[in-house]
This record gives sequence, structure tokens and C-alpha cells, in this order.
Amino acid sequence: MKLSQRMDQLAPYLFVEINKKIAEKRARGEEVISFGIGDPDIPTPPNIIEKLCEAARDPANHRYPETDGLPALRQAMAAWYKRRFEVTLDPNSEVLPLIGSKEGIGHAAFCFLDQGDVALVPDPAYPVYAISSKLAGGEPYYLPLTEANRFIPDLGSIPQEILSRAKVLWLNYPNNPTGAVAELEFFNRAVEFARQNNLAICHDGPYTEVAYDGYKPVSYLQAEGAREVGIEFHSLSKSYNMTGWRIGMAVGNAGMIDALKRVKSNLDSGIPQAIQYMAIEALNGPQEVIAQHNNIYQRRRDLVVDVLNDIGCIAAAPKASLYVWAKIPPGFTSMEFSASLLEQVGVLVIPGTGYGPSGEGFVRLSLTLPDAALVKALSKLSAWQDSHNRFKSKH
Ligand SMILES: Cc1ncc(COP(=O)(O)O)c(C=O)c1O
Repeated sequence: MKLSQRMDQLAPYLFVEINKKIAEKRARGEEVISFGIGDPDIPTPPNIIEKLCEAARDPANHRYPETDGLPALRQAMAAWYKRRFEVTLDPNSEVLPLIGSKEGIGHAAFCFLDQGDVALVPDPAYPVYAISSKLAGGEPYYLPLTEANRFIPDLGSIPQEILSRAKVLWLNYPNNPTGAVAELEFFNRAVEFARQNNLAICHDGPYTEVAYDGYKPVSYLQAEGAREVGIEFHSLSKSYNMTGWRIGMAVGNAGMIDALKRVKSNLDSGIPQAIQYMAIEALNGPQEVIAQHNNIYQRRRDLVVDVLNDIGCIAAAPKASLYVWAKIPPGFTSMEFSASLLEQVGVLVIPGTGYGPSGEGFVRLSLTLPDAALVKALSKLSAWQDSHNRFKSKH
């Protein structure tokens, strides 16, 4: 058997490798507390689970779903965009439910890229933008997100030779992994840039509802002319603690939505209908849980930031997202720092380079650890600092 050459470009997914490492340590009886994947520990709200149980009992929901979902779901998604962002969407042509936004992000590459085309991808970033671009035969061109530029890409720095081959620009705010936010002024500039260079914009916004200190992130679709050149991916995963149920959406430009629907209808068979009913309940039902969950993450964020700064990192409190992006102490690479924490005190943080070369010098910590584990992990981080200082004074 010979695998395709495409497979040579496909390393195991970041978290598959990390989870393997954790499992090996645990199998040896070692404790590992993980600040790894951004997977909310708080359960899905009970009203949403009730809908699932009800819908699961109805045989109408036992059959193949439609690729583009129930009309009531598309309407609920459009109505939520209207209430939350004052963005009006046609539920029939500008809304497409997804089996989690990761699925849509992966398939989108096949809509925009031919062999040798360039995808402009932030660095560091959620790995799927670059991986799916490569699988589709495209070439990712990395746009460094630097602290100096508040983790916003410098669109003016892209060489003309690259721009002439570029077909798609990926953006993601509130940002994973840096926790940075972007305002409408940047999205307006991005739309203008896409128009001038004939690019499709794919904005990935699963964290618009996870925000702190009263901050309200914007949607890309609020930008002037946004829907003429782009779409936005959204997800119920983080807003409603629904990562395990797999449901998200793409919204915006009707031509781009139609292309994605064509790819999907040829490759998947839609979202189980009982899960679509959960999403309708989540979007139309009571929204207070969002603020309640954000209060929990905010409290954790402040504890994590304090301890990181105590142990020699430089971490600012993010305004949004589930992540603290911390500059590591001098003398380590990101990989070495993560390895030191894991080996010495059994705490897993993700090296910034897992998200791209510009992540060097940083680590990412997710705020989705239950409180008791969080407190324990923080005391272990403080203990790492003590043992590290002892080691330094001896050498
Ligand atoms: C930036 C970003 N986009 C997309 C996703 C995928 O979310 P979903 O659960 O909707 O597939 C994640 C998940 O961590 C993410 O961080």
C-alpha cells in the first residue's frame, strides 16, 4: 500500500500528539494537569440537553438530515446574528450550518484554492487554516502576528508576487492563540484590501461571545461591504459549551456559501437533526448562561495571569477568548519551557510554536480547567518557579 503524497504534508494534529503524551505519562502513574485544548469544562446548559432528549425520541429525526440543515435552524442563526450584531442575513442563501466550524473551515479551502494558489494565513493560528490549504493543493503564506502590532497582521507587508497568487485571506478575532481582539476599523481595512487584490476573506469568529470586563467583540460582517468579499465562521462550541455536539455555521457572501454547500453536500450528510434542535434552543433560548460562564473564565483568567507573572512570564489579561498567551522567561524556547513545566511539575501548557513559527517565545494556557484542578495547577506552577530558582543558583 502506498499513501498519497498529500499525506506527507499531514503531520498528526497538534492535540493528538499532545494527548498521546499526556496518556503515556498518566499510564506511568504520573499526574498531569492540562492547560491544553480549549474545551469548556462547564456542561452544556440543561434546557439545551432537554431539547436533545425530546428530539432524539422523534423518529423524524432518525433519518438523513439535509446538508443545509432545518429551515428553522437557519432562521435561528440569522435571527441571532440580527440580535447580537445588527447584521441581517438571508437564511436561505447566506447561512449554512456546519458539523462544527472546524469542518467548514477544512472544506472551505477546496472552494477557493487550486494547485499552487496562495492562502494568506495568520501565524500563530488555529492550525486548520494552513493544513486545509495544503491539502487542497494550495500554499500557505504566513502573516506574522506580532506583539508590536497587537497581534494584527500587517497586510501592507505582503510581497506583490505573493499577492498576485493569493486567493483567500484567513482572519480570526477574538484570536486563538493570542487572545487578541480586532475592531471594525481593521475589518474595514481588510475588506478594502480584499477588494483591491481580489481575495476571499474567511473570518473565523468562534470566540465572539467569550469576553470579559464588559467588552463586546464585533463580527467581521459588521464591516462595510464585508459580505461582498467574505464569510464568517461561527460556532456554538464555546458560546454554549457544546464542543461535543459538533455544530457551527458559515454566514455571509451567498456565492461563497453556495460553494461550501456544494462541497459539503458531496462529502457529508449534514448535522444530526436532534443536534440541530439543540442549536435552535441555544440560539433562541435564555442567553444569561453566557455571562455566567464568562464570569467563571474571567476569575480563572485573573488567577492564571497573576501566577504566570509571578513565575517570570509576561502575561496580559485578554479581553476575550479562552486563552492566556504568555511570553516565557528568557533562556528557554517555547518547547523547552513547556517541557520543563511538564517534566518538573506535571503541568501542560502549549508551546507557541505549535501554532506557527511566530509563536516562538510564547505559551498558551486555556481557561477551561475546572476550578479545583486550576488551583492545584497554579500551585504547581509556583513550585516550578522555586525549583527552577534553586537549580539556577546551584549552576
Ligand atoms: C479559532 C478556532 N476556530 C475554530 C475552532 C473549531 O471549533 P468547532 O468546535 O466549532 O469545530 C476552534 C476550536 O478550538 C478554534 O479555536
